[in-house]
Amino acid sequence: MPVLFIGVDLGTSAVKLLLMDENGVIQNMTSRDYPLHFPKPGWSEQNPEDWLLAVLEGLKELTEDCDKSQIAGIGAGGQMHGLVVLDEEDHVIRPAILWNDGRTQKETEWLNHTIGKKQLTEWTGNIAFAGFTAPKLLWMRENEPDLFAKINKVMLPKDYVNYMLSGVHCTDYSDASGMLLLDVANKRWSREMLELCGITEEQMPKLFESFEAVGTLKSEIAKELGFPETVVIAAGAGDNAGAAVGTDTVEEGSCNISLGTSGTIFIPSAAFKTDEGNALHAFVHSNGKFHLMGCMLSAASCNKWWLETILDTDNYAEEQAPIAEERLGKNHVFFLPYLMGERAPHNDPSARGCFIGLTMDSSRADMTQAVLEGISFGLRDSLEAARAMGIEIHTSMLCGGGAKSPLWKKILANIMNIELTSPETEQGPGYGGAMLAAVACGRFASVEEAAHTLVKVTETVKPDPELAALYEERYQQFRKMYPALKGVFAELA
Ligand code: XUL
Repeated sequence: MPVLFIGVDLGTSAVKLLLMDENGVIQNMTSRDYPLHFPKPGWSEQNPEDWLLAVLEGLKELTEDCDKSQIAGIGAGGQMHGLVVLDEEDHVIRPAILWNDGRTQKETEWLNHTIGKKQLTEWTGNIAFAGFTAPKLLWMRENEPDLFAKINKVMLPKDYVNYMLSGVHCTDYSDASGMLLLDVANKRWSREMLELCGITEEQMPKLFESFEAVGTLKSEIAKELGFPETVVIAAGAGDNAGAAVGTDTVEEGSCNISLGTSGTIFIPSAAFKTDEGNALHAFVHSNGKFHLMGCMLSAASCNKWWLETILDTDNYAEEQAPIAEERLGKNHVFFLPYLMGERAPHNDPSARGCFIGLTMDSSRADMTQAVLEGISFGLRDSLEAARAMGIEIHTSMLCGGGAKSPLWKKILANIMNIELTSPETEQGPGYGGAMLAAVACGRFASVEEAAHTLVKVTETVKPDPELAALYEERYQQFRKMYPALKGVFAELA
């Protein structure tokens, strides 16, 4: 009997679901939006119940026309770092505090400077960043002590969905890596960090590899969806580790860039290693090995903000059409993409977005181009951090919504000065999630086997030496801008 797997990409603006057959062919896709709340500047929250509702509605629509008895497994790639807390009755205590929320500057600084980066790295493999989960627990303990006292379970966004579907309080190592509560090198909760945050191991989810089955659908959910009760729930992964599977970025020597709400550069590593410069995170990969990752907080979201909120258009292609070929590498306008502060490499929640270099002859198209370039320069910063570690990257996979624009792809390839290859299916985290489910169900022996077998690539964009040289000059100018403004951002905060 043919078998079907479901991949869930639990993103920040929407959940995207896909139905994949055992040969990796996508049979159907659907998505559901949910609101994102910014209650104060730099804060970012979502309601976990909105995710669950969207997932359940999405699952129904996704499987409307298929033979549901063929559904074997579900695997999710979820937005990372978000703090979800449940009370004894499993009620959500407060809205989830998301990965791009910058409220924990004080707690982050305390962790990095009083506890110290060296100590944190020894315990967890990483330093503190405002979006990580541990500083959020410290913030809650300080600012919402009554709510903090009610915490019975701590979990990450996709783990909340998995818990509601399966009844198993679990997480996977890739996603858990971003909590600053996991001893990444040894794949176990850090006793020291849990104690520091006032949390016990009983409150934490059980740890699994991403490709392991955590359980099966709860019978009432199976009934509601019309699915067999045998449907396996895979532990799943953080969205970046999921996307890396979906683009076959599972072996050392490969690389994946994701141009989603966030922008990430993902570098698999067979052994655990850390970045002494602290720009790149050292996390577990969804194949059980490790990876390094640089994350910028606002990537495609800057472009969306500029086009939809400021220019009031949703016609991205029309807006990019006037950006002439000969203008590439020559734009005198720069954009700093720090609309939600910045993670890699600056670790500064107070950083803010700006246009720099405007003159009377600057045009709308120059500013649109500057936004695409500014995000690409931001990603180049993470690439430089990897290069400083001696890692050579000449080619990368590219996924995420931003990858749909041929112009942006060309700009990015030339700013990074590397080749960019697109997978046939650019649904990175969802496709990876479905593959993790396929491994959890025994369809493939390993994540590597699934990724190598199923991922097909389409075109590769190569950098042009002349254009790359022009962009090199621009990048060197861009690099000076954040340090020059850092003090101003701090004063404004
Ligand atoms: C990674 C990160 C983001 C989110 C986006 O560290 O914070 O990429 O996972 O969903």
